Amino acid sequence: MSESKSPRFIQTWLADAEAERAAARAALAATPASVAPKFFYDRLGSHLFEAITELAEYYPTRTEAAIFAAHGADMANAIGAGMALVDLGAGNCAKATRLFPLLEPSRYVAVDISVEFLRDALRQLQRDHPQVRVAGLGQDFSTTLDIPAEVLGNDRPVFFYPGSSIGNFTPAEALAFLARVRERAAGGGLLIGVDLVKPRAVLEAAYDDSLGVTAAFNRNALVHLNRLVGSDFAPRQWRHVAFFDDAKSRIEMHLEAREAVDVSWPGGGRRFAAGERIHTENSCKYTLEGFAELLVAAGFEAPCSWIDRQGWFAVFWAPAR
Ligand code: AVJ
Repeated sequence: MSESKSPRFIQTWLADAEAERAAARAALAATPASVAPKFFYDRLGSHLFEAITELAEYYPTRTEAAIFAAHGADMANAIGAGMALVDLGAGNCAKATRLFPLLEPSRYVAVDISVEFLRDALRQLQRDHPQVRVAGLGQDFSTTLDIPAEVLGNDRPVFFYPGSSIGNFTPAEALAFLARVRERAAGGGLLIGVDLVKPRAVLEAAYDDSLGVTAAFNRNALVHLNRLVGSDFAPRQWRHVAFFDDAKSRIEMHLEAREAVDVSWPGGGRRFAAGERIHTENSCKYTLEGFAELLVAAGFEAPCSWIDRQGWFAVFWAPAR
């Protein structure tokens, strides 16, 4: 009979909730206004993102999955045995779970901004994998990366950051983030999925799909903000905009006011002119060489990488001495 364990949950961002709200209001009041992409991921937003990953146009998730399916054994070989697998932005934990048979982690640490979404997923995961020590961290790891020593034990830390979520950072921010991961990865390393530069039409369709799921995902950030900071955005007044900026090598997503809009929140508010935009996301696209250089600049050893046939997406293993 297997010993019955329950995952341990550590919430580290609720303490900063007031500062979080103040920062969100300040970003709304600024010109140009912006909403940090982390605000996509309330419970509904996390489900909408899962729906995006099933869209015909959204190639990253299935392309990355194909790379793991084709080269997972190779990756496991490069990574080596024994680890605490630290999943950054774990969501439903499905990607990491699929690697369990290959990586055989003794510990699994799921980190995500949306703790409540994590909670359900981890309870199920713990039932399915009673031999793994499971912990969930509710944390904004884009600003803080605070992995309590007790959840790592004595195992080597292998960070897992799939899905090209690194694309939400600018290259300078990505470098700083990767360096923070590197500091915590001694003896282990980083397994990371990165979306690559490709023809504009493919990129733009992926972020402006024909069913409007990405548009709903984008507008839902306003619904989340309304609940979080007490604003009164009406999502119907905002149009989804997504385009590839060649010079910056990134997809930008915005919400554009269809008409003049007045928004208020406790202690403030503002007017948006018709056509004015709120910047909601950057999704940076890299070349294979460019991202390898970034990993080395962050202090990792020379990485290995695997790509799909079309060269649309890459998975890197970057060891940390
Ligand atoms: C989760 C940040 C990788 O940039 O492709 C999907 C988010 N935004 N569609 C991405 C997203 C719009 C996604 N990441």
